[in-house]
Amino acid sequence: MAKLRVGLLFGGRSVEHEVSIASASSILQALDPSRYEVLPICVGHDGAWRIGSVGMLPEETAQAEHDLPALPGTLAIERLGGDPSDGRPVDVIFPIIHGTGGEDGALQGFLELADVPYVGAGVLASAVQMDKDVTKRLLLQAGIAVVPWVCVDAAELGDPDAVEARAFGELAPPVFVKPANLGSSVGTHKVKTREELLPALRDAARYDEKILVERAIDGREIEVAVLGDREPEASLPGEIVPRSEFYDYESKYVDEETELAVPAELEPRQVETVRRLACDAYRAVEGCGMARVDFFLERGSGEWFVNELNSLPGFTDASMYPRLWDATGLPYPALLDRLIELAFERHRRRRALETTYRRG
Ligand SMILES: Nc1ncnc2c1ncn2[C@@H]1O[C@H](COP(=O)(O)OP(=O)(O)O)[C@@H](O)[C@H]1O
Ligand SMILES: [Mg+2]
Repeated sequence: MAKLRVGLLFGGRSVEHEVSIASASSILQALDPSRYEVLPICVGHDGAWRIGSVGMLPEETAQAEHDLPALPGTLAIERLGGDPSDGRPVDVIFPIIHGTGGEDGALQGFLELADVPYVGAGVLASAVQMDKDVTKRLLLQAGIAVVPWVCVDAAELGDPDAVEARAFGELAPPVFVKPANLGSSVGTHKVKTREELLPALRDAARYDEKILVERAIDGREIEVAVLGDREPEASLPGEIVPRSEFYDYESKYVDEETELAVPAELEPRQVETVRRLACDAYRAVEGCGMARVDFFLERGSGEWFVNELNSLPGFTDASMYPRLWDATGLPYPALLDRLIELAFERHRRRRALETTYRRG
């Protein structure tokens, strides 16, 4: 049987460009070479797509910026569908671009229009999970506890007293301030005094028009990996143990000391609860493909809160998502097989839908 040709799409125009290259390298190494042939495709900081050749490594493709032709996405996708370098189209795209433009539904919409099977969440689930405010509203509707929050529009910063009164009318410091649509803790601040609120909001407003002010939770950070479409399955939970005050950009990508406990040390009853909550939350945001569901387990009360969902979690072999599946009995290469299978299944299901109206 001919090998499946996988277009491994990575890079992107975001602060997570380098993280994406690392994820893509791990994926390339783990994909079974007897089943797959991988074509690396790098989206540069300039937004142009550069198609490597089969066998080329993601980091080589990223470095070959000057040698590979820079194509607009539209042209690249056309070429991938018909005639890359040797006339064979890609069978499936594995997008592993984090953040804006990569996991917010924009890229998924583009791949949808190109009618190519792709790994991971679709347009709606991606867009919802990217927006922390919309995510919370859907979770609340499903009866799932979220951290109490106030949503601020950047335009409101023109009247600072009113914003402060509204935020502190509902929440007492300490609070967290963060842009609604971002990741990697960029623009996120822990605000301990009233005076710190406005500077934090102004900084967050550099990244997004919508900003969340949230009650600060004193709790453990527990994460669960979810996989599947119609009948999603949840992994064992893991725990993030950051060294700094919270899980900020440094502790995510720079500080090697941040510890991931896989699996997390929890009571069997707590494990059961959090796995069930993870599947419920996934369904509430119409999740498909995969997502990592991040929780706080509050100290003292023992209450669970969903913090956020990530439709395109970090994906190196040392990242939480693959490690959680590994600990649950699904090793990294088998996880990749499953994700690719899900991409084909979803594409087939959508293809089977009628697109013209027939009477009777
Ligand atoms: N309400 C909160 N209470 C306590 N810690 C928080 C809260 N919100 C965020 N944090 C801390 O900030 C980190 C990043 O915030 P998060 O909401 O997960 O955004 P991101 O999308 O950037 O990961 C979290 O992992 C956690 O350490
Ligand atoms: Mg997070």
